[in-house]
This record gives sequence, C-alpha cells and structure tokens, in this order.
Amino acid sequence: MPAKDVAVVILAAGKGTRLKSSLAKVLHRAGGRTLVEQVLRACAPLGAKKTVVVIGHQAEQVAAVVEPAGGEPVLQQPQHGTGHAMQVARRTIGKAKLAMVLPGDAPLVRTETLRRLIAAHRAGKAVATILTAVVSDPSGYGRVVRKSETNVGAIVEESQLTDDQRELNEINSSIYCFTLEKLWPALARVKPHNAHREVYLTDAIAILASQGETVLAQVAPDPREALGCNTRADLAEVDRVFREWKRNALMSAGVTIQLPETVLVDPEVTAGEDTVIEPGVQLLGKTKIGARCTIRTGSVLSDAILGDDVVVEPHCVVGQSRLDDRVTIGPFARLRANNHLKTGVHIGNFVELKNSVVGEGTKAGHLTYLGDAKIGAKTNIGAGTITCNYDGFHKNPTTIGNRVFIGSDAALVAPVRVGDGAYVAAGSTITDNIPADGLGIARGRQVNKPGWASRKRRELAAADKQKPRRSTTKAGKAKKARRR
Ligand code: UD1
Ligand code: CA
Repeated sequence: MPAKDVAVVILAAGKGTRLKSSLAKVLHRAGGRTLVEQVLRACAPLGAKKTVVVIGHQAEQVAAVVEPAGGEPVLQQPQHGTGHAMQVARRTIGKAKLAMVLPGDAPLVRTETLRRLIAAHRAGKAVATILTAVVSDPSGYGRVVRKSETNVGAIVEESQLTDDQRELNEINSSIYCFTLEKLWPALARVKPHNAHREVYLTDAIAILASQGETVLAQVAPDPREALGCNTRADLAEVDRVFREWKRNALMSAGVTIQLPETVLVDPEVTAGEDTVIEPGVQLLGKTKIGARCTIRTGSVLSDAILGDDVVVEPHCVVGQSRLDDRVTIGPFARLRANNHLKTGVHIGNFVELKNSVVGEGTKAGHLTYLGDAKIGAKTNIGAGTITCNYDGFHKNPTTIGNRVFIGSDAALVAPVRVGDGAYVAAGSTITDNIPADGLGIARGRQVNKPGWASRKRRELAAADKQKPRRSTTKAGKAKKARRR
C-alpha cells in the first residue's frame, strides 16, 4: 500500500546520558552503521511523503549523517521530552495524515513490521497504534496498560509505575502510528508532570484513550525489534543481533561460517557459494569475496575484493586491495591500501605490501616489503627483499619485470627497474637499473682465509691458560665462597 499520506518522524535529539559518552547517542554504531542510519534505512522502503528527523545534541554531526540518507532535520533546542520533540517537528511534518514515529535509538525494527503497523492502524480506524513487545525483563521501558484485549488505555513510564503495573511485561517500543489531526490537540494537553519536567509523548496515549478514541497495540513479531539503546550493554546486544542476522544471510547464500558467533561481518559484505570463513574473522566495509574462498582464523579484511578460490591463511590483515582468482596469502601477511594481486599470486608470511601490483603467478614467500612496486608475472621475490621506496621526501616506484629472480635479502633502492628475466644476487643493494636477462650484483666480494678459524681458537685457548684459574661452575663458586 502506498504511504504517501504518511510522514516518518524520527526522534533523535537526546544526548543519551546513560551511555556516558561525548558522542550523541544516535551516532553510536550497531551492526556497522550509526543508530540513526539504521532507523532511516528501515523506513526508506515505506516510500513516505517525507522523513523528518528531530535533532538536538551534536546537531551538526547528526545532520551530516541524516541528510545524505534522505532525512530532513529539525532542531529541538533545548530538549523537553519526546512529546515536545513532536511539537517542534509539527511545522516541518506539514499536512501528512499519519505520522510513523520512531525513536532514533531502536534500530532493529524491520520495514515489514512498520508496514504492518500502518496497515493495522488504517484497518482499525485508530488514532494511535503502538508497536509493543512482550519481554521477560521489561525494566527501563514504558509499560502498556490495556483497557480491553484490543485497546490500550495508557502507557506508564517506569518511574510512575504502581506495584501492580510493574508486573506488566508488554512494553512500549516508542514506535507508533498517529493520526495527526488527533495527536496535536492531545499533545497540547500533556503536562510535564514528571521528575524530568518533560513533555512525554507517551502521556498523549492516555489522553486519547480517555476521550474514547481507538488506541491499538500491535505486538512485534520479534521482541528484539523493540530493543532501545540506552546503555553500552544495550548497544552490544543490538549489535549482536544485527551481526547474527548478517551471518545468517551469508549462510543462506551458501557460505560456511565456523563458530559463527565469533565472526564479525559488516552489512555491505558479500561472499560467494562454498566460501569458508573460520572462527575469529572480521569482514569489514565493502569487502567482496568470491566463491570457494577460505578465510582462515584471525584474519581481518576491510574493503578487500577477492576473486574465486582465494586462500587467506590465518592472521592476515588486508586493506583496500584486489586479490584475483587463486591468490594465496599468509599466514601473517599484511596488505595495506591499493594493491592488486593477479591470478595465482602467492604472498607468504611476514610480507607487507602497499600500493603495489603483482603479476600472475608471482611469489613473495617470506619477510618482504613491497611498496609502490609494479611486478610482472612469474617472478620470484626472495626472502627478505625490501623495496626502499622512501628517500625521506618522496615515495619512489620500483618496477620489476616478468620471470625475474630476486635473491634473498636484496634492497631495491627506488626509483629502480629490473628488466624481464633478470637476476638480482642475494644480499645486493641495487641502486641502478638492471637490463633484461642481466644479473645485478652489488655486495662486497667474499674472501676465504684457509685455516683462520683453528689458528684463532689456538690463540684464544693459550691466552686463557695464562690467566689465574677461576671457577665458573655453580658448585665451584659455592666452594670458593665457603673458603672466604
Ligand atoms: C522511551 C519511552 C518509553 C519506551 C522507550 C522505548 C517516553 C517518555 N518514553 O523511553 O515508553 O518504552 O522509549 O525505547 O517517550 N528524544 C528527543 N527529544 C527529547 C527527548 C528524547 O528527540 O526531548 C529522542 C531521543 O533521542 C531518543 C528517543 O527520543 O532517540 C527516546 O528517548 P529516550 O530518552 O531514549 O526515551 P526512553 O527513556 O528510552
Ligand atoms: Ca531509549
């Protein structure tokens, strides 16, 4: 059903005192996004006439998140409660018939639940319809007092509960559908009669019900949809639920996740069929993983693009990089930003790459730094190779051709080029270009001195005999001490 007569209103002006944070509550993150973005995303598919977001604390920063996501910010300054927030938004809400009101701190609500709430409101000819949840621990939430099986009489805030009401386990999610022409006059009658001297939106419910208007409640299909983030513990719980949903979506798409509760996946991450993700992995940002890949334990990938059949061995850190089909990296490899590893590349342990292109089938197996390097196909980079890309002022490029053999412990002082098919002798410090098929060798020439070692040992032994004898064993030292 179209929702063109509906205005979405998100209440996001509060500070979030209970979080004990310098950051406004709705800018805290759960499931890889800020709380207010999560709420906006849940509302977007409704196709509402407009989406108003009431902001206050850190208004500038909140607006910067809200506006690109399609929200129209309204400033509530100071914040005199959820009812006051609605009054402040009135002019911007304009002539919509219905308002879908949501708190900015309850991000788990699903679009389908919101659709059903609006539908129930229309079908029941209600003036207010409340999304509620039945929970085992209702503490901290407003309780729903029903006056009949279907109709609500009031919402009572925690601080104002009578002993009987404390038992009620149906809570107010703070998500409502209101018929605006009825809400405004009721809200005008709400008095700030509470400890915080705030105008509570919840008090408008009792006023509407006492006027004989129809106030309905719809129980959320999943009580977690009503979870609000007042404390760090709430944030952790909500994050846990988002992460679980995301992992379940990946598993439904054919991805194996071992010990799933230990794996953290950001919302935009994708992975192909038969990919295996081991325990303790983090897949962050816009990471995209192909089919039949293995991401082994302890690896963290952010904004990485992996082809098919890629193996990431344990404890790799991969930043924004492209790994084509059949690449293998690690264990303990670090790919910083802007690398492209072409098909079949092997990067081994303790190898770091930055801003480098590595050609098909090339291998760098051990203890290497490749920065600002362009390396051809089927080249072998020996253990301990370092591109010296930084001269203290500028970053300089290293270009290595196809089928090159770089011996172990070579320092390639950039800018420098190594031609196709060339060799670099182990231990060389290369400062000049090496032509194709040439050998670059740059190290002191080796001199062997026959018999040198045994002569040296004899000399040392003779010198030792002339010194007064000193006991070096523990027992000897003890004996000596006793003699003293
Ligand atoms: C509110 C409800 C409570 C419900 C709970 C569900 C009221 C009085 N109580 O309590 O019945 O069970 O949500 O999570 O509404 N806000 C403003 N301006 C203000 C005050 C608050 O925009 O002046 C915003 C906050 O930023 C927040 C939302 O409104 O996003 C709810 O406020 P909060 O203080 O979290 O209310 P709760 O105590 O959780
Ligand atoms: Ca809250």
